[in-house]
Amino acid sequence: MPFSTAIAALKSRFGAKLSTAVADRQAHGRDEAGHDGMPPDAVLRVGSTDEVAEAVRMCAAYKMPIIPFGAGTSLEGHICAPKGGLSIDLSGMNRIIELNEGDQDVRVEAGVTRQALNAYLRDKGLFFPVDPGSECTLGGMAATRASGTNAVRYGTMREQVLSLKVVTALGDVIETGTRARKSAAGLDLTHLFIGSEGTLGIITELSLKLHGIPEKLAAGVCRFPSLRAATDTVMATIQMGLPVSRIELLDELSVRAVNTYAKMNHPETPTLFLEFGGTSATVDEQIAIFTDLALSLGGSDIEFADTQEEMNRMWHARHQLYYATRAMGPGKKIVTTDVCVPMSRLGDCMLETRADFEASPLFASMLGHVGDGNFHTIMLADPTSRVEMSVLERLNERMVRRAIAMGGTCTGEHGIGIGKRDFLQWEKGPATTLMRQVKMALDPLGIMNPGKMLPDEDLPGA
Ligand code: LAC
Ligand code: ZN
Repeated sequence: MPFSTAIAALKSRFGAKLSTAVADRQAHGRDEAGHDGMPPDAVLRVGSTDEVAEAVRMCAAYKMPIIPFGAGTSLEGHICAPKGGLSIDLSGMNRIIELNEGDQDVRVEAGVTRQALNAYLRDKGLFFPVDPGSECTLGGMAATRASGTNAVRYGTMREQVLSLKVVTALGDVIETGTRARKSAAGLDLTHLFIGSEGTLGIITELSLKLHGIPEKLAAGVCRFPSLRAATDTVMATIQMGLPVSRIELLDELSVRAVNTYAKMNHPETPTLFLEFGGTSATVDEQIAIFTDLALSLGGSDIEFADTQEEMNRMWHARHQLYYATRAMGPGKKIVTTDVCVPMSRLGDCMLETRADFEASPLFASMLGHVGDGNFHTIMLADPTSRVEMSVLERLNERMVRRAIAMGGTCTGEHGIGIGKRDFLQWEKGPATTLMRQVKMALDPLGIMNPGKMLPDEDLPGA
């Protein structure tokens, strides 16, 4: 077995916390998008930063790759182990360390999930807003710069993290920031690690900003005769500065998927799922302004979720959409792309992409966090059909090139992982050389999540 000496040493230090069981290895090498077949050689379930640091130092001594693991919900192959190595599972580091209600911040271990944090905060009138939908850990969310439905109002992980405790690739422990709301002190290491996808070090603790739960929340759906009418409404809403807390677009196929999966009954037409938050008066005002806007652009009146239970059901259905769409083609290969463009180009980008889909034989739906100019497409293809698989690849590449040409990015929230390494080069060009230099400086042995984000032919450890 590769790395057998390293694994024996880890076993004698960590005992039952280290597993080489096939099922464990497989479960840690497969993400939610099904990038599978690349299990790590072993899984270590850690309980403290000190254990992480010790494990990293041992891996460094044997030049054994390390793949940080939170909940395994990423979609671009971040947690696969193409070069084998040790999966360090942080899900057991799930303590909420310190709440500072007056400062609206909290200190957590990396394995705390966003749901667990919000359950803990609920009766304190506070919440953590970043919501990618899945049951994911806050460490993983920081490592992938996650966002999701609330980002239009509250921003992404980039905006919510005050400081990180990080175990470096050499096994040192550093703190990147403080609890101060801003700082002009030196290089911004916090944001170097946010979105670094485990390629520079391992996040073990986070200080996070919190927000007051709005006095009133109202949610509902607004339907449109066409995708263009919907995107025009989104654009106008954002351009006028209306502080919607969620504005999610589902195309006809996405609505069909929700209906089938969540046993709902929405008309199959482009639909916005909306949420407004604030005081009673500001929510009413936002709703009135939005309704005028939507009606003038061909939309319907908002159909409100009347009870908290209905509201929960509506957002649960939205959060299940990825799984719902997957269920439309059992056995099919599924590719979820995630691009993000400047708001003024959202409609063009979605419509040109839609035209591509209509000219193809594949099932391909569109949905997204459109208030940020961020949309996903979910494409299904028969993995045994060379034709379908090459159509799928071409559609994906065309969409990414289109987004980049419009001043956008190849990923608004899902990250690079394995799946988008070429696209990162297309988007950043020579700037990837600087990324490579940073990587080599921080991870001179090339052991941190190798094979991810940057093409790794000429990196150490390749
Ligand atoms: C979503 C995931 C796919 O927005 O990012 O549902
Ligand atoms: Zn999303």
